[in-house]
Amino acid sequence: MSNTLPTATLGRTGLEVTRLGFGAAHRRSMTDEEMNTQLNAVLDAGINFIDTANDYGNSEEMIGRHLRHRRDEYVLATKCGCHPDGHIWTRENLFRGLHESLERMRVDSVDIMQLHNPSVAECEQGELVQALQDMRSQGKVRWIGMSTTLPHLPTYLSWDVFDAYQIPYSALERDHEVWLTTTAQAGAGTIIRGGVALGKPGVGLGKSESWQAYTEAGLADLRQADESDTSFVLRYTLTHPDVHTIIVGTTNPAHLAENVQAIQAGPLSADVYAEAKQRLDRIGVTPA
Ligand SMILES: NC(=O)c1ccc[n+]([C@@H]2O[C@H](COP(=O)([O-])OP(=O)(O)OC[C@H]3O[C@@H](n4cnc5c(N)ncnc54)[C@H](OP(=O)(O)O)[C@@H]3O)[C@@H](O)[C@H]2O)c1
Repeated sequence: MSNTLPTATLGRTGLEVTRLGFGAAHRRSMTDEEMNTQLNAVLDAGINFIDTANDYGNSEEMIGRHLRHRRDEYVLATKCGCHPDGHIWTRENLFRGLHESLERMRVDSVDIMQLHNPSVAECEQGELVQALQDMRSQGKVRWIGMSTTLPHLPTYLSWDVFDAYQIPYSALERDHEVWLTTTAQAGAGTIIRGGVALGKPGVGLGKSESWQAYTEAGLADLRQADESDTSFVLRYTLTHPDVHTIIVGTTNPAHLAENVQAIQAGPLSADVYAEAKQRLDRIGVTPA
C-alpha cells in the first residue's frame, strides 16, 4: 500500500492531517491480535489522525498497547464527558475521563480533547469550556474540540473557543454541508464522522433506510468503472473543500485498503460533483 495520502491543515491547530483519518470506535468485535494488525496497518497506510473516545470500549487501551511505540506518527484525538452510566457533564467527570484516557493510552497528553456531544445548555451549566482550557493550561491537552451537530453548532462557533469540530457528513447526510464551510472560515479544523455512511448495507454496516437516497438519486450511475458504492460516497465527502480529515472506522483490512485507494483517487470531478448534488437536491437530501 502506498503511503502518500493528501493532507489538509486542521484549522488553527496548524496540524497537517491526512484527509483520511481513522475512527477507532470498532463497531464489530475484534481480537487483540486483529486490533494490533489493524491499528498498525492504519499507520502503515500513511494515515496520521486517530480519533477515539473514553467510552469506545477498549479502544483507548488498544491504542496504548499497540501504537504507543509509534506515538510520533499520528495526531491523537479523544473525547470526554463520557461515563459508564452515560454522559455526565461536570468538570469532575471531564477530568476523571482525561486521567483515565491518558493512563489507558500510556501518554502524558493528547493532541485534541473533544467534548462528546453536549448540548449548549449542558456545556454552559457545567462550565465545560473552562475545564478544557484548564486541561490545556496543565499541558495535558494541546487543542480543544467539540463533537456536535445542529442546532448547537452555530452557538459554539459564536463562542470562538474551539480549535476543531467533529461533525457528521456524507452524500446521504448533507445537513452540515454549508456549516462545514462556516466552521472552516471561522478558522477551526473539521473532523468528519459518518463519511462513508457506515458502508453499503451488506458490505459495511449501513442501513438500507439511510442508503435509500443513494439508490433513489441514482448515484451509482456516476461512479467510475470498478468503483464501489462506498468509495463513491467517501469521495463525495472528500470533495467538500472544507473537510479536513474523514475519520472512517473499519475492522476490515480490505475496507481500509479500499478507503485509502478512494482517497488517493481524489475528489470527484466538478461535473460529477455538481450532478450528484443536483440529484440529491431533487430527492430532498439537501443541506440544512
Ligand atoms: N462524536 C460522536 O458522537 C461519534 C459518533 C459516531 C462515531 N464517531 C467517530 O467517528 C468514527 C466513524 O464514524 P462511524 O463509524 O459512525 O461512521 P463511518 O466511518 O461512516 O462508518 C464506519 C463503518 O463503515 C464500514 N466501512 C468502512 N469502510 C468501508 C468500506 N470500504 N466498505 C464497506 N464498509 C466500510 C465499517 O465496517 P467494517 O468494520 O465492516 O469495515 C465501519 O464500521 C468512529 O469510529 C468514531 O471515531 C463519533
